[in-house]
Amino acid sequence: MTALPEPTARGRPEVVIRRLDALSARRHLDDLADLLVDSVEGGASVCFLAPLAHYEARDWFAGVLHEMDLGRRVVLAAFLGNLVVGCAQLVLAWQANATHRAEVQKMLVHRSARRMGVGARLMRQVEVEARALGRTLLILDTETGSDAEHLYSHLGWIKVGVIPDYAMRPDGSGLRPTSLWYRQLD
Ligand SMILES: CC(C)(COP(=O)(O)OP(=O)(O)OC[C@H]1O[C@@H](n2cnc3c(N)ncnc32)[C@H](O)[C@@H]1OP(=O)(O)O)[C@@H](O)C(=O)NCCC(=O)NCCS
Repeated sequence: MTALPEPTARGRPEVVIRRLDALSARRHLDDLADLLVDSVEGGASVCFLAPLAHYEARDWFAGVLHEMDLGRRVVLAAFLGNLVVGCAQLVLAWQANATHRAEVQKMLVHRSARRMGVGARLMRQVEVEARALGRTLLILDTETGSDAEHLYSHLGWIKVGVIPDYAMRPDGSGLRPTSLWYRQLD
């Protein structure tokens, strides 16, 4: 990712959160892949081991596009000017008895844009999209003790418990626990 835009006299461009349609997601495939590579490089436990090659991240997002086409996933991106600085996904439960439920996945903010409120903005918009789709129960899992846990707790999510030895650290140095979280929307 190129450098963040410098603040001008009128301040830094505002972060805008947009739901991507399949066409714009295809257009931003490289940006989304960059975000994933950056997070894995930074040690985030998001299903991949380091080093994650750009083409592997791109391939993974190509699979996401397929699920978007099938109406199973919603992808949001955070733009700072023209830069994609964050993303989040909502995976819609397909089971007949779970059409009220969705899972939040791949909440990623580029390391250069963290602690600026982007993650919180993304999650708020995830909730708006979920409500609009009739999804009133959101679930997710994340590495226990990660930065993401602070975000979810800050946003009122409820932690259910911890599963030990859930996933390998991105650097392959050992297994780490994961925490399960949920949030019920009004
Ligand atoms: C988790 C993540 C998405 C947070 O994004 P972010 O844009 O930096 O978060 P925000 O700036 O919106 O933070 C909102 C609040 O969450 C909490 N928070 C977020 N990151 C935190 C951190 N590293 N330490 C402590 N609190 C934190 C704070 O309360 C913060 O408010 P404050 O800055 O006013 O104190 C980002 O760190 C990230 O991409 N991590 C790597 C990928 C990852 O692990 N994703 C989760 C997969 S489930």
